[in-house]
This record gives sequence, C-alpha cells and structure tokens, in this order.
Amino acid sequence: MRMYDIIEKKRNGEELTDQEIRFFIEEYTKGDIPDYQVSALMMAVYFQDMTEKERAELTSAMVDSGDKIDLSAISGTKVDKHSTGGVGDTTTLVLAPLVASLGVPVAKMSGRGLGHTGGTIDKLESIPGFHVEISNDDFIHLVNKNKVAVIGQSGNLTPADKKLYSLRDVTATVNSIPLIASSIMSKKIASGADSIVLDVKTGSGAFMQELEDAKELAGAMVSIGNRVGRNTMAVISDMSQPLGKGIGNALEVKEAIDTLKGHGPEDLTELCLVLGSQMVVLAGKAETLDEARNQLQENMQNGKAFNQFKIFLDSQGGDAHVADHPEMLPQATYKIELPALETGTVSEIVANEVGTAAMMLGAGRATKDSVIDLAAGIVLHKKIGDKVTEGETLLTIHTNQNVIEEVKDKLYKSIRISDTTVNPPTLIYDTVT
Ligand code: URA
Ligand code: CA
Repeated sequence: MRMYDIIEKKRNGEELTDQEIRFFIEEYTKGDIPDYQVSALMMAVYFQDMTEKERAELTSAMVDSGDKIDLSAISGTKVDKHSTGGVGDTTTLVLAPLVASLGVPVAKMSGRGLGHTGGTIDKLESIPGFHVEISNDDFIHLVNKNKVAVIGQSGNLTPADKKLYSLRDVTATVNSIPLIASSIMSKKIASGADSIVLDVKTGSGAFMQELEDAKELAGAMVSIGNRVGRNTMAVISDMSQPLGKGIGNALEVKEAIDTLKGHGPEDLTELCLVLGSQMVVLAGKAETLDEARNQLQENMQNGKAFNQFKIFLDSQGGDAHVADHPEMLPQATYKIELPALETGTVSEIVANEVGTAAMMLGAGRATKDSVIDLAAGIVLHKKIGDKVTEGETLLTIHTNQNVIEEVKDKLYKSIRISDTTVNPPTLIYDTVT
C-alpha cells in the first residue's frame, strides 16, 4: 500500500477502505509516513469529507494506536459525559457525585484547561490535598467502592490523535467535522466507557459557535460512537453566556457544592439534570428521563449527592471539610465589584470574552506551561434577561493582581445592557440520538 495512492483517492472524493485508513494511522504513528503526506491527506479530507463508515474506522484506528483503559473490572454500565468545552462549565463537578449517588459508576478521565475554557482537574485541585495521580488499579478499586473517581489523562492514550492534532493545528485543517468528531471520540472510546453522553456547546464561548455546526458535529460524534459499539447520545446546549455564575477554579467548586445541595444557579442545575437524566437512563438505572430526573432531584434535596461528593473528595486525598466550609478554598486578596453604568436589561454576556478575562486574571492558562491562580475568577451577579439599575453590581472580580484595568475594560465590553425586554437564551437546543 502506498500513501501516495491514498492521498490521490481521497483528493478525488472516493471512499477509503478500512485497510487504507488503518495503514496510514499505523504507519504515521510509528513515524514511517512523513508529515507532508499526512498534511496533504488532511487537506483532502477537509475538502472531500468522509463517509460515516470512514469516520468510524478512522476513530477505531486512532483508538488502537495507543493504550486503552479497561474498565471491565467495574461492575455495571459505565457512562461517561463529555463536554466540547465552555466557560464556567461546572457540570462535571456536579454530575460525577450526583449520578454516582444513584449507584451509577462514574469512572472519569479528565484534563486540564487551556485557553478560555477550564479543566475539571484544575478545579478539583483547588481542594486542599485532592489529587488525580492514582494508579489504574486504585482508580478501578475506588469506582467499585464509591461509584466515582477521577483520574488524569494517561500518557499514551490515542498517540495518533496527538500527532494528527498538532499537524492539523499548523496546516489549517482543525476545522473539519470528520476530523474533530473522530479526534474527540477516539479519546472517549479509549477511556473505556460503555455509554457516552455528549454535551455539545454552541455560542460565542463554544468551539462550534453556530447552532447548525454544533448539530452537525453532534450528529457526527453520535454516529461514530454507535458504530463502534458505544451507546452514544448528544445534547446541544447554550454557551453564548457563561454557564452558572462562577468562572474560575475554586469559585466553580463552591458553585458545584451549592448545586449539589439543590441551590445552585438555575441554568447549571437544569443542564446537570438534563445530562444526568440521560446518563442514568443509559446506565439502566431508570426507565424514563422523567423518572431519572426525579431521582436526581431527590438526591440533591436529601443530601445524598452532597454526601457522595464528600466521600469522593476524601477518597482522593482531598479535605472533605471543604464541602461544609467552602471558605477553606483558596481566596483571592481582592474582590472588586463592577457596577452597571446604565439601567436596563442585560442582553449579552459574551462567553468567550468573559472566559478570556478570567484567564487574564490567572484562572486559566494562556499557554500549556502557564501557572494557574486557583482563587482567581469572576462571579456574575446578573445573567442575560436580568434587570439592572445603574450602580448595581454586575459581577465581582476575584483577583490577586492589583492592576486589572485591562480586565475591567474587557468585561465592560463583553456585557451589553438594553432598554428593551430581553428573554434568557434557550439552554437546551436539541437532543441527538
Ligand atoms: N478537540 C479535540 O479534541 N479535537 C479536535 O479536533 C478539536 C477539538
Ligand atoms: Ca460556572
């Protein structure tokens, strides 16, 4: 088999065979096909697309390029949730203990944040002592014992995707539905879950800003998941404004605690119930979404979800007292309130701009090597649709820096106040199965 022929075939818009896809992934991972040939193939895929069959085979080949996590020693249906990334997206911190409190095993592999979106591991590390460097054996043992554990990404998961992603990044081929879908799904599938619930975000703070693109990506990922034998569904949710009120690591842990106790922000609570219900049904712990939702709400009210969170913290070295005393979380030196400059209704809170502002405060990483300030971030007092009067606080900036004029400027520019009535944006746009 020759790489030249594979490039030519895809350039001409033909469907590649399973053998051809396996060949280029295997040989490229080994270093036996040069970057320039794979770049040409990626560009051909960008313009010619891939069939559903090709996408599934590409994903499987990438999964097989490295380690696969074997979760078969965990009893029950393992359901994973994956978000395509957003600003202030605190759902994993809530969902892991919440769903586990119903007896659904949650074996979560998570990453760190880069750019304006946060990473679950960074957030969890704001809890004193908490760590995710546990062995695979301990991970499996903890999930069997407590129904929930979080581990950091293993070193050799989908090496083909790592190489391809770096190459796409410098050859203008990131933005391709078959390539994005296979990249994301390869990592999910290699992580071992039986069923996968995808939260595909749309809006300014999302990877897919347009609803139509988000729907297409969701459809592509669901098709791949189901074709490779993992029960997969997707929810398309809003990321035009940040989710919930807290943006920043310790601030989001505090928000997750509130939500687990049943008094979190409305949008975050609702999204957690929607995603959680899907997870519970896929895990076979409820017949219908309504039944699942009732069970989840019950465990928020009766303290079981909150208690599960404490067990989870404690089992991974974290100080569980933090759950009862969130003031033990890292605190910023300065808390600066940003007053509204006019009276009206909040009509826009541009998520990616607010995310970038939080990153400038130190809540996120500008580059892979940046050091995070766990206490830094933003707490919104108003969301889209809320009325505000001049001088009233729009948000509080939590910072350890004493000069933040640039951040304030950015935040003012990201928030618009209108003199007409504005409805809150739709939270859930669609469900794809
Ligand atoms: N995120 C991924 O993991 N892969 C892509 O290709 C794009 C976004
Ligand atoms: Ca939040």
